Parts: sequence; C-alpha cells; structure tokens
Amino acid sequence: MAERHSCRAFAPTQIAKSEIEQILATARRTPSWCNAQPWRVDLTSGVATDRFRAALSEEVQGAAPNPDLPFPSSYSGVYQDRRRACGWALYEAVGVIKGDRAGSAREMMRNFALFDAPHCAIISSPAELGAYGAMDCGGFVTAFCLAAQALGIATIPQAAVASYGPFLHRYFDIPQDHLILCAISFGYSDTKHPANGFRTERAEPDEFTHWHDD
Ligand SMILES: Cc1cc2nc3c(=O)[nH]c(=O)nc-3n(C[C@H](O)[C@H](O)[C@H](O)COP(=O)(O)O)c2cc1C
Repeated sequence: MAERHSCRAFAPTQIAKSEIEQILATARRTPSWCNAQPWRVDLTSGVATDRFRAALSEEVQGAAPNPDLPFPSSYSGVYQDRRRACGWALYEAVGVIKGDRAGSAREMMRNFALFDAPHCAIISSPAELGAYGAMDCGGFVTAFCLAAQALGIATIPQAAVASYGPFLHRYFDIPQDHLILCAISFGYSDTKHPANGFRTERAEPDEFTHWHDD
C-alpha cells in the first residue's frame, strides 16, 4: 500500500503474460456483494495497446466526452482542495505553471496516450448491479493495483479513458448492458520521468473516522 502510486510515465517493456495472469488471479479474490464478481476486464498487450492508444487519441479529437457512469457533478470543500493539490503536484513535477492552459491540456492528453503504458485493462460491470457492481469493481481495481505493485509493476486507474463510453463499447465489443467504469494502464515505471516524481498526501485516520465506543 505504501509503495503503490499512480504512474504517469511507463517504460515500453512488455509484462510477461504469466505475470499478468498472476495479477488477475490475485485480484479475483476481491470480495463482492453475493460473490457476484461483476468485473469484466478487456486487456490489451503489445500492438493491440498501440492500436488502442492511437484510436483513442484520434477519437478524443472529434468526440465529446460521454461516460457510461456520470462523472462527479462537483467537488466542494476538502474534496476540491485535495483534487487541486494532486493536480498541482503533477503540474509542478512536470513544469506546468499556473495559467499555462496549453501545458495542462497537454498533460490531460497524456491520459489518452495511456501514459505510454504497454498494457491497458478496461474495467466494466453489468449495469443491472448498479452502484454496488461499481463498488465491487472499485475493490477489484485496488486489488489489481496492489497485486501488480507486489510484482514491481506500476499502474494507474484512469476514469479519463472511460469518458469515451460509446467508442469503448464499439472498439472492444463490450456489451451495452455493461457500464464502463475506468481503465487501468500498467507496465514498468519510467522511474526517472518527472511525472513520477511526486507523491500524494493522505488525511489522518482521525479525520475520516467517527469513533463510537463509549
Ligand atoms: C477510479 C480512479 C480513477 C482515476 N482516474 C484518473 C485519471 O483519469 N487520470 C489520472 O491521471 N489519474 C487518475 N486517477 C489517479 C488518482 O489521481 C490518484 O489515485 C490519486 O491522486 C492518489 O494518488 P496515488 O494513486 O498516486 O496514491 C484515478 C484513480 C482512481 C482510483
């Protein structure tokens, strides 16, 4: 948990299929309501990742965002503060200064190049399971990232990729009765890249825990 962080620059080296299988075999132990195990994973490697990266980057130029799962309507108070803090930490690391709209847009576009990751997993869940299916898949995403980290493999969950729902359904033939939730791009970290040179903060446990014990 302490070592994992979101990687935003990957080395091109492919991960051995046996290691990816190991990550999936670990992540499937994630608990889910009624043990429904609602996660569907569409996973790319090699030239298939490069084809997807190119197609997604092209799609983004012409299509409006249209995620299956509506994005948060707003971030207020502490949530807005934290959102800004992680955004600024990234911009500072890569040298984008306040007001540099072109620079921040360029960083945003890196999402659609999958941060040059050699692999991408698209996570979707049956729509009929609603928010609980998405919740179970959230657990799966974390388990996937931790299992990868344990093998020295870096990850980044990406809601940005899920912005282009209709395209992803078409591209991967993901059934219409599934909600596309996010992607996880993964591979070995380009550890020297400035985008990987910062870490995010966390609130103290007492800030989010309401003890009821007397
Ligand atoms: C569901 C989910 C979606 C995310 N989407 C994006 C994204 O689209 N682009 C991005 O750069 N980071 C994305 N992140 C990474 C978060 O920004 C990151 O987890 C958070 O800032 C905490 O930093 P850490 O993962 O390095 O600990 C996402 C994370 C999660 C869990």
